[in-house]
Amino acid sequence: MASNRTSIHGQWSSKWVFILAVTGSAVGLGNIWRFPYATADNGGGAFVLVYLVCVALVGLPIMMAEIMLGRRGRQSPINTMKTLAEDERQSRHWYLLGVMGVFAGFIILTFYSIVAGWTVAYVFQAMSGVFIGADAQQTQDLFGDLVSDPKRLLLWHTVFMSMTIFVISRGVRSGLEQAVRYLMPALFFLLVVLVVYSMSTPGFSEAMSFLFKPDFSQIEPSTILVALGHAFFTLSLGMGALMTYGSYLSDRTSIPTTSVAIAVMDTGAALLAGMAIFPIMFTYGLQPEEGGPGLIFKILPIAFGQMPYGRGLGVMFFVLLMLAAWTSAISLLEPVTAWLVEKKGYTRIRAAMSAGFVAWVLGIGSLLSLNLWSGAKLFGLTFFELVEYLSVNVLLPVGGLLMAVFAGWLMSKSSSLDELKSGRIGYMAWKVGAMYIAPAGVIIILLHNAFGLWGS
Ligand code: PFF
Repeated sequence: MASNRTSIHGQWSSKWVFILAVTGSAVGLGNIWRFPYATADNGGGAFVLVYLVCVALVGLPIMMAEIMLGRRGRQSPINTMKTLAEDERQSRHWYLLGVMGVFAGFIILTFYSIVAGWTVAYVFQAMSGVFIGADAQQTQDLFGDLVSDPKRLLLWHTVFMSMTIFVISRGVRSGLEQAVRYLMPALFFLLVVLVVYSMSTPGFSEAMSFLFKPDFSQIEPSTILVALGHAFFTLSLGMGALMTYGSYLSDRTSIPTTSVAIAVMDTGAALLAGMAIFPIMFTYGLQPEEGGPGLIFKILPIAFGQMPYGRGLGVMFFVLLMLAAWTSAISLLEPVTAWLVEKKGYTRIRAAMSAGFVAWVLGIGSLLSLNLWSGAKLFGLTFFELVEYLSVNVLLPVGGLLMAVFAGWLMSKSSSLDELKSGRIGYMAWKVGAMYIAPAGVIIILLHNAFGLWGS
């Protein structure tokens, strides 16, 4: 039976808007910034393969579970889990899953905004023409100059966080829905232009082997964990963003169809980014390991500096990347904002500003760890790396695992069947995924990795 609840925060105007909003959340820095350097750091094709398997077998069932929970509860993740635990007569402690999700999103936002700030800075760099004719050394220096300058980073971090707070405080419907409608296709188009350029470079075939010919000797427990974490990150899973977006979804929409469409678009964006970036990297003799988080910022400007109309295309590319980051960042801030509105009775503006302000302050820790605090390390990781590692590789998989367990094992069949809105075969496939495959995958990978780390 339908839950008959409605959300106090509103509802998407159509199924398409929901798909666009979730795609807006999913496609972001994860695809274009994080995927290429995670691939480079983790041995190429083998990582790509494990990541694709994680998306299909673990990511998809969890995505459906998360959206389903959100639509049934129709509140922020914390209150949704509280309500559903009551409905299904489960322990009231399930609300802690919502708390963990809201916390994870909040923590991710703190460093996401720093990297998104780089994209804003690069819009202006591209405009100024500094990339024209630049070689690999020059583009590396330009990036190095940016990250070693705390004042510039702080400026762009502040600009980006303010943009995010602005949208959230206005409500998601006005403005953003329109933006994703046109901007996502434009971003895909520009990625294709870059891939076409990369095909003409001598490093193309080497890059294709690096990306698509898995070398299984490269696979270690940590590779698999990073691939799993990345699958969660790129699909925006495990922290309540999709639960919150699902809570604004009409009862009539089919969750499986929309989820598959979103996962395909998200994966397509990442693979295009890889096919654009690696050929240039190999052409210029750069080693994958040298890239790190600055990879795309060091590599793509070389291409824009050489290609016809490169200046205009460079500006467009970084504008679109910034917008893709923006549509993702709002989904990181929305869950905590919705919760503050429900719990404290804040207005949306006040809720968005308070949460955004705290995320901005914490982000300064990540910002300084790129320069002044770069020597301060815990377990060999800087503050930025530690926050990224814990939130992406630990909190998101654990959050996703618990969502799958709740939706797959604890929710009654009538509730889950009613929410999923799919035929018998689709329902069975989801059920097997959510009950067995996804939880087993996450548990095995987490345990294996924990023992692998302890053993080493
Ligand atoms: N999926 C986004 C990206 O790939 O950039 C990042 C993200 C957004 C992660 C929202 C998690 C989230 F809830």
